[in-house]
Amino acid sequence: MKVGVARETAPGERRVALVPETIAKLKSAGLEVLVEAGAGSGSAIPDGAYSDAGASIVSSDDLYAQSDVILRVQKPSAAEAARMRSGQAVVGLLQPLIDPRLAASLAERGAVAVSLDMLPRTLSRAQTMDALSSQANVGGYKAVLMAANAYGRYFPLLTTAAGTAKPANILILGIGVAGLQAIGTARRLGAVVKAYDVRPETREQAESLGAQFVQLKTAIDATGAGGYARQLTPEEQAAQQAELNGVIATMDVIITTAQVPGRKPPVLVTAQAVRSMKSGSVIVDMAASALGGNVELSKADETITTENGVTIIAPENLPATMPAGSSQFYSRNISTLLLGMVKDGALNLDWTDEVTAATVITHDGQVRSEPVRKALGLEPAAATPTTGETKT
Ligand code: NAI
Repeated sequence: MKVGVARETAPGERRVALVPETIAKLKSAGLEVLVEAGAGSGSAIPDGAYSDAGASIVSSDDLYAQSDVILRVQKPSAAEAARMRSGQAVVGLLQPLIDPRLAASLAERGAVAVSLDMLPRTLSRAQTMDALSSQANVGGYKAVLMAANAYGRYFPLLTTAAGTAKPANILILGIGVAGLQAIGTARRLGAVVKAYDVRPETREQAESLGAQFVQLKTAIDATGAGGYARQLTPEEQAAQQAELNGVIATMDVIITTAQVPGRKPPVLVTAQAVRSMKSGSVIVDMAASALGGNVELSKADETITTENGVTIIAPENLPATMPAGSSQFYSRNISTLLLGMVKDGALNLDWTDEVTAATVITHDGQVRSEPVRKALGLEPAAATPTTGETKT
């Protein structure tokens, strides 16, 4: 079976789905690896490093013509999806709940779509495949570095002959994977860190990394399914905002990471709260996208400075700003997922396997993932296989 590594084409994307270090693993499973020329260039990996590791460097046309499976980071564009043929598989962060039409078009072409972001993340076996976590980890780290870079003062307490610098007060909103990494990174830089989340179990996790948990008087437990948060009711959200406003006003730096799967991110930092902050304060909104963000004033992929001197940074793709590190982790995630679906050198889908059942979203001309069918307004699938193995 031939596994092709596509060159990413999304604007600003510098990651690559597979790094040369992972090629030996695929080859020892009987797979041949094709790499599109220049695929690693955004991550400073020359084509030669791939060929030295045993891959063949091919043109884009050859990649689509020859590969049985195409590995990528971002979902294919409509034009790239149109190049896929029946039986050919594509593996990546396909975001089928945000863009279910793409899944439908891949199904119409008979392509097998495998979406890493549909992984059941709470399965312990799935941790090595969890690209959402590995990339959020990079994002949390990079958000703190960006904030430190934009902040005109020291993060740590510093006593020098020229005087004493006070440590920066940092608030992390959302204590998931990115938030925990942001706490750790900010603490390592010497800042005083506070953190808040609507899932009560995050308190201990934040405290173990040296952050002080912000306990609101209006106790909200918004633990949802699968370890995620549920959406707050309008009343809960108003109570949360009112109380958070008091904390926000005293902060030098805020990093927001709060997401609710498949929904617009909650607004945690209102325009009014920003107006209460000191000039020179910095906010990094990691949840910002075209859908909105956690900060009312943030503009996706832009940096703005408000009239009262607060800088708001809203990077849409932080992992791509540290591409070699992100790609190294992603490569491990995607190759582990792929190898779990390979038997005797061929794709062999076992629908009784929880990872396969959740991540293979289209197969045999059908959208087979129930959450994606729901997003498309389709009835539950009746005819898709639910047990046994299918060779592709
Ligand atoms: P995420 O990116 O979906 O959200 C980030 C954080 O924002 C979450 O902690 C969420 O509770 C919080 N949040 C949502 N709405 C909020 C609001 N209104 N106010 C304050 N905070 C709010 O989360 P992520 O990082 O992708 O993962 C979340 C959880 O998923 C993990 O903490 C864990 O429970 C589970 N998970 C489990 C894994 C495992 O068991 N191996 C691996 C990865 C994730």
